[in-house]
Amino acid sequence: MTSQTSTALVDSALSADIGKLALRGSQAPLVPTGALEKAGFKYIDLTPVIGREFADGIQLRDILNAPNADELIRELAIVIAQRGVVFFKKQDLTIPEQKELGNKLGILSGRPAASGLHKHPTERSPELPDDISTITSERNKHYAKARYQQSRFAARGWHSDITFEPVPSDYAILKVHSRPETGGDTLWASAYEAYDRLTPAYQKFLEGLTAVHEANVFHQVAEAAGEKAYTAVRGHPLNDGPNFTATHPVIRTNPVTGWKGLFVNPIFTKSINGLSKDESDSTLEYLNKLWTNNHDLQVRWRWNDPNDLAIWSNTSTVHTATFDYGDNFRAGDRVVSLGEKPYFDPASKSRREALGLPSFH
Ligand SMILES: [Fe+2]
Repeated sequence: MTSQTSTALVDSALSADIGKLALRGSQAPLVPTGALEKAGFKYIDLTPVIGREFADGIQLRDILNAPNADELIRELAIVIAQRGVVFFKKQDLTIPEQKELGNKLGILSGRPAASGLHKHPTERSPELPDDISTITSERNKHYAKARYQQSRFAARGWHSDITFEPVPSDYAILKVHSRPETGGDTLWASAYEAYDRLTPAYQKFLEGLTAVHEANVFHQVAEAAGEKAYTAVRGHPLNDGPNFTATHPVIRTNPVTGWKGLFVNPIFTKSINGLSKDESDSTLEYLNKLWTNNHDLQVRWRWNDPNDLAIWSNTSTVHTATFDYGDNFRAGDRVVSLGEKPYFDPASKSRREALGLPSFH
């Protein structure tokens, strides 16, 4: 059996499972059961608000092959939704297994049946399936150069993956197989905590707003490489066509945790609807400062060993790469699972409120 055939079988078996699950967001928030701890998976939390590192020696393949795999993967999906990003050291996971895990995280936490794995407009490789995004320093060199021409602030790179799609991502899994001896760290920031930093008056103002996310720059990026951006259906029927643009709520409810988070980023969010350009620009500038000026809601990961792997929530975190490694080679494979059309549920809670933690106001 080829790996492609086996992946197709996995995908259709997974689709059959979807009907048995209640859609997340239509039910009470999912809460961790402690299934991973009970199965002996040790970890440390990297900061109080974001990031969890699982112990060296744990292989995600063992979770995929466990007799209670579905229970463990569902638990992992809830843990990632709560902690924002988790890390596993030195992973043996193959590409089909990485895809299987990406699909199962979404499906077992109740993603809509129409959502699959994303096909990126430009981050593609002829050697790999088109629902694997390849992240390489070769392509990033061009992005970094263009970015440094506009600004010398590295912090311009914060984003949540593919928010230019009407149905963006819930989970992403990145395995970095080639990395420089030093440099190329990735940082994540908590959207829950960013929301919790706002005063009630400002939270209320933002909760009624939507913003435009756009990335038609990918057409120029593709052209510069002598290619054409991929414009056919990209993992969900609504993610279709050459106009890479979408409208999303500024405050988004995570359907797994039921917690509210800030959902704008400096890369893709262009304007806030209903405001003048001046108001929109100054509001977005302030909101984006919540990511960059609060190192106490960030976690920074150093890719120490080959095949270290991160899984994060694109619903409730933003992240940024660090282009500090010159001509050294860095590359990895990423699976981006699609969630639902983002929504704001007025009945949802902030993370601090839900966990009974002291608020900032
Ligand atoms: Fe990204």
